[in-house]
Amino acid sequence: MESTISISNTALQYIELEERYGAHNYHPLPVVLSKGQGVHVWDVDGKRYYDFLSGYSAVNQGHCHPAIIKALTDQAQQLTLTSRAFHSNLLGQYEQYITAYFGYDKVLPMNTGVEAVETALKLSRKWGYEVKQVKEDHAVIVICDGNFHGRTTGVVAFSSDPSAKNHFGPFTPGYVSVPHNDMAALENVLQDNNVVAFMFEPIQGEAGVVVPDDGYYTGVRNLCTTYNVLMVADEIQTGLARTGRMLACDHENVRPDILILGKALSGGVLPVSAVLCDDNIMLTIKPGEHGSTYGGNPLACAVAIKALQVLKDENMAANAEVMGALLRSEIEKLHSPFISIVRGKGLLNAIVIKHSNPDAAWDLCLALKENGLLAKPTHGDKIRFAPPLLINAEQVMECVGIIEQSLRTLE
Ligand SMILES: Cc1ncc(COP(=O)(O)O)c(C=O)c1O
Repeated sequence: MESTISISNTALQYIELEERYGAHNYHPLPVVLSKGQGVHVWDVDGKRYYDFLSGYSAVNQGHCHPAIIKALTDQAQQLTLTSRAFHSNLLGQYEQYITAYFGYDKVLPMNTGVEAVETALKLSRKWGYEVKQVKEDHAVIVICDGNFHGRTTGVVAFSSDPSAKNHFGPFTPGYVSVPHNDMAALENVLQDNNVVAFMFEPIQGEAGVVVPDDGYYTGVRNLCTTYNVLMVADEIQTGLARTGRMLACDHENVRPDILILGKALSGGVLPVSAVLCDDNIMLTIKPGEHGSTYGGNPLACAVAIKALQVLKDENMAANAEVMGALLRSEIEKLHSPFISIVRGKGLLNAIVIKHSNPDAAWDLCLALKENGLLAKPTHGDKIRFAPPLLINAEQVMECVGIIEQSLRTLE
């Protein structure tokens, strides 16, 4: 299959440069992109594709959204970085905007998603020792089997994916894992009074878009309240309109104690992440106890305000809900023998491939690429379909046509 893939000499040269001078910690599809606009990206040979990954849901607002790029370039000419040694004229404005937007007392700004996860873990432990009065160094944080929260040594410590952990130990203790979507297992571990937090992805993205049963978020909320444990929602991938609501937890009107955001908080133009919670948790961290040189920089603040405004101004959550339902139902109508499951919420979707060839999902992604749609397998047999949230019905139908045509190459 791979031999039938067309790669130009120009593209090959770029790929070889990366291969020769870059670390080999990724296995990208053989396509070299040089331009993006809205739902589309273009390769170095000028071929256009639908982007069905959206930078792992960082580009919810679409590639190079004009209003976000304007905010970026305007601010870039004024002031980009102060560090937190000094105040800036934008940080407070951004903090006021985002806390009002999501309804929390305070925000702690960081850059990458995993830094925000680390921040939430530190806040949970601080709260555990200083408010819940857990004995020093005894705090336990509950997480889910199959989780993905990032790549630092602190976070891979509780990954259940061997390839994320292999030869990176020793790992930090203090974590207990329960099956995702299993209320009884969660209640069982919450009996331990040393548990300070339950951190989870409302939909497990990297695991292959695993959607829990209706009522799960409500059940988690109730258990966390009953056992005096912080409910920590990692909405880095599920948040910011991706699943058809501003937050995935909004599907059940549930408010986590700690909310973690990243990715689309900048519309895909620079790393911006955030942790939101109320004063009783946030103010346990004092000056000098946590921080980041770039966290809350003026450029990030200007971009994040605009990225959040665009989501609301352009009704992206509502569009994601309708277009996601259309995408899933049209793929189901194909009745492909090679698709065993179509699942998702809003525009966070995945198909599970059923085929005798274990590389079929990868091969299908190569065929999709040939036909003008970019997607990437996760965990072997699953392919995520997560286009930018401004996709329209006509474009969804065109993409379903591309998917149908590409599935035929598996016959
Ligand atoms: C749910 C979740 N948490 C955390 C992260 C880590 O974010 P980053 O790669 O920006 O560190 C990701 C990235 O895919 C994610 O999906």
